[in-house]
Amino acid sequence: MRKQIVAGNWKLNPTPSNGVQLATDLMKLLNENPQPEGVGVAIAPPFTHLMEVAKVIDPKKICLAAQNCSFAESGAFTGEVAAPMLSDIGVMAVIIGHSERRSIFHEDHAILATKVDQVLKHGMRPIFCCGEVLQERNAGIQNQIVENQLKESVFHLEPGQFAKLIIAYEPVWAIGTGVVASKEQAQEIHRFIRSLIRARYGQQIADDTTILYGGSCKASNAAELFAQPDVDGGLIGGASLDAVEFHKIIHSF
Ligand code: PGA
Repeated sequence: MRKQIVAGNWKLNPTPSNGVQLATDLMKLLNENPQPEGVGVAIAPPFTHLMEVAKVIDPKKICLAAQNCSFAESGAFTGEVAAPMLSDIGVMAVIIGHSERRSIFHEDHAILATKVDQVLKHGMRPIFCCGEVLQERNAGIQNQIVENQLKESVFHLEPGQFAKLIIAYEPVWAIGTGVVASKEQAQEIHRFIRSLIRARYGQQIADDTTILYGGSCKASNAAELFAQPDVDGGLIGGASLDAVEFHKIIHSF
């Protein structure tokens, strides 16, 4: 059966020293009160923090993730960080296709497909984000948008590769806005995503794929979202920057 996961996306926060403190605080909370049986926890600090954060977390309790990686493996790509560099320092998963990468940094479907390939090639798990903007939701075309994002960037994968993916559905109108999707909206589109996976990869892989919800998820609303049959946890932005709040979300199953 599929794994339930709570992943923290720290985005461009905080300083490295404060990040090490945040990871230390979270580790302490998990040592005192471990995550429920079968629940995976991940944190995705900025690149600059990864090596120091790795030293203060127990990889059996917290999976180290990155927020992005290059489409290229090495070479003349100033400013980039490549997948083999991340795997070499113990990173286990990489967020790919976050809406901020798509909209602010103009990452298109083809680039994201290449990044997914890089992450898999270097033995890590992509956390692939999809989701519609408000105008698309208002026009009622959210399903087509998400279907297209999956088709263009991950449905080229062989079944064995796809099975390593974690999907995060993040409606862009809910990210950082305080407007959370209702549990019905989340369940409806998560079920739709699972049906797309079933059509492409079959029942077993569809049943086993973890699909996270992201967008203004916090301790006060996590339990009702995570109780939905096709919602397998959350990708948490703002609320992951507070160890106590994040720990409460981890205990929302
Ligand atoms: P948020 O962000 O929880 O701050 O809304 C979620 C995300 O962007 O992954």
